[in-house]
Amino acid sequence: MEATTKTTSSTTIELTGSFENDILSGLTASPKRLSSVYFYDEKGSQLFEEICDLDEYYLTRKETEILQRSAHEIIDTLPMNTHLVELGSGSSRKTRILLEAALASFDETRYSPIDVSVEILEQTSNDLSRRYPDLKIEAVADRYEVGLEKLLQNDQSPDCVMWLGSSIGNLTRQEATLFMYKVRQELGPEDSFLLGVDLRKNADILEPAYDDARGVTAAFNLNLLTRINRELGGQFQHEQFQHKAIYNDTEGRIEMYLISLEDQDVWIEGLDRFISFSKDEKILTEYSYKYSQTEIKTLAELSGFRVQKQWFDENHWFSLNFFKPI
Ligand code: AVI
Repeated sequence: MEATTKTTSSTTIELTGSFENDILSGLTASPKRLSSVYFYDEKGSQLFEEICDLDEYYLTRKETEILQRSAHEIIDTLPMNTHLVELGSGSSRKTRILLEAALASFDETRYSPIDVSVEILEQTSNDLSRRYPDLKIEAVADRYEVGLEKLLQNDQSPDCVMWLGSSIGNLTRQEATLFMYKVRQELGPEDSFLLGVDLRKNADILEPAYDDARGVTAAFNLNLLTRINRELGGQFQHEQFQHKAIYNDTEGRIEMYLISLEDQDVWIEGLDRFISFSKDEKILTEYSYKYSQTEIKTLAELSGFRVQKQWFDENHWFSLNFFKPI
């Protein structure tokens, strides 16, 4: 059978218009903040791949362990020939485990990654269709909500939307509920959602995962300043900022900051202004929320799902959650 690969893209996705506005509002706010969506330029995406291989960053390893152990059981939970839709084009290593299980069980396996980056989608699609000639791939370059609407509107087969890697953790709990609620609106009774969620645990495991000994996560965080320098003519100097990750146990989240090591005024040409920092002033760059079992159940219920099944790694550090619409 011939591989079918099709990449559809709506209007060009331009993040730069809002990049300037977001950086301006974030750096003039009090306290200062920058959105973690801007980590993923070419260098940032490459650093994130490196993070996933770090000893301290257990998330990818644990999720892979669950998939290796349970991929067949997950696929057996789905109706025959379920259309697999992935939010983000995923590390193909993890996705491949599920796709191989589907290819072994289904008569026909359809896979649709949704991602804003056309380049990443093309790379993933080409790689997968070379490996799996029988796989039918329809990639969609768009924001998740729009991509889902396009893919699911006239689709007759059951769909399983997959969101792996605990990316939901980068939303606040309220944003996460709202996002899941919107996805729920696109799903019918035969559809489902497979969600990778990192679990609450001790700070002595969590903090090194976000502040590794080799400094890869520090470089990932500081790369935001490089991006502002490149795209907006900023004059940030890395040596004058320090990466910091702390676990806020009450909120159940890692908080990542860039901390100014001195009083300084940084010129940003594209914003036509100096941004002033006092010594020890923090820029919040990322939240990474962790969930308890109760919090997963609440997330599901508030957004119109029920948790039908869960899979865990041996240590119960990470979870894969199978949600059905109610
Ligand atoms: C993409 N996301 C799930 C990662 C996380 O664990 O929150 C991003 C990350 N930030 C620092 N290390 C990894």
